[in-house]
Amino acid sequence: MQADTLIHRCLTLARFTEETGHITRTFLSPPMREVHREVTRWMQEAGMAVRVDAAGNIRGVYGRGPRLMIGSHLDTVPHAGPFDGILGVMMGIALVEEKPPFAVEVVGFSEEEGVRFRVPFIGSRALVGDPVMDDSVLQAIRDFELDPAELPKAAVARDVKGYLEFHIEQGPVLDQKNLPIGVVEAIVGQSRAEIQFQGKAGHAGTTPMTSRCDALAAAAEGIGVVERTALEEGVVATVGRLEVQPGAVNVIPGLALASLDVRHKNAKKIDKTMGMLQTSAEEIAKRRGVTGWWELRSSQPPAEMNRLMTNVLAAAVKSAGHQPFRLSSGAGHDAMILARKVPAAMLFLRSPGGVSHHPAETVDEYVVNAALAAGRKFLETWRPV
Ligand code: GLV
Ligand code: MN
Ligand code: MN
Repeated sequence: MQADTLIHRCLTLARFTEETGHITRTFLSPPMREVHREVTRWMQEAGMAVRVDAAGNIRGVYGRGPRLMIGSHLDTVPHAGPFDGILGVMMGIALVEEKPPFAVEVVGFSEEEGVRFRVPFIGSRALVGDPVMDDSVLQAIRDFELDPAELPKAAVARDVKGYLEFHIEQGPVLDQKNLPIGVVEAIVGQSRAEIQFQGKAGHAGTTPMTSRCDALAAAAEGIGVVERTALEEGVVATVGRLEVQPGAVNVIPGLALASLDVRHKNAKKIDKTMGMLQTSAEEIAKRRGVTGWWELRSSQPPAEMNRLMTNVLAAAVKSAGHQPFRLSSGAGHDAMILARKVPAAMLFLRSPGGVSHHPAETVDEYVVNAALAAGRKFLETWRPV
């Protein structure tokens, strides 16, 4: 398969969305069924036996015996671009179409972004025997007509000897260096929390400023602290979602719910920052007379990619005619979860302008062809032992 067909497949899947005019496809939402239908067809045409596991991951197996797993995710952030995650799944199918010399399992993970339930990696965590067991997640699995009792069967088989993920870089490094592809050495860790401030809703016109319990004003102060602390500690920290209730122009906010995402390549640094932010949230709540509530939703330590497999990948990049440039990832990826159980490696594809988590996200045909060439070379040299 050539890059144009592969890109076309990504654009085809982009049509399956929860929101007309945007690409938004969260964990096991109705459009995921349509994605599964298309992906099943492409996997079967490539000679794979296809199933959907109890976490909603679509899995195609080509051949028998010891195998390589190639995967990425099929869910998206709200108002996403067409390539984050999806491209990696299409890469796996494209490489299998060329009949690799050993067995390959291609996985389209059901969830990586953490949008629907604010806990990421629901798909890949099921493969490493650490499924997300929140009631709301289990109910979503049942609603998709899957059986949570079958989650243990989603675990990665003993026959899987390595995990390879292709992904757009989503950052500027390869673009600035004018390189089409790069080999990932490590993925930063990330912790996510939800912070709730419960104040007292009231009349915006009659309640004096001195007798208010404004939940959003508390959250706003907290968000300022997040930015300042991140700058001081040298981490990246983001409040990407804020829910305000009752959410009316003339009502003092009674409730504010904020998401928090903190990342760094050093786990201790993340923990320290999370601790500082939790303490400040509590202090802000106390001083303002509102109730503060903090819930850690997930915590992924930084992940090193497997050295041996990464060396094979770098050699494959070189023999495909490209510089085997190495870089680390600021974005989270399913590879950091799979790395807990199997050797894992990742190849990044240049993101023009570093743009991602945005509708303007693109990838160049030349870059996809470079990744396909490196993938072919990898399959010629790596062996599932
Ligand atoms: C996934 O895209 C993440 O890094 O949040
Ligand atoms: Mn993403
Ligand atoms: Mn992604």
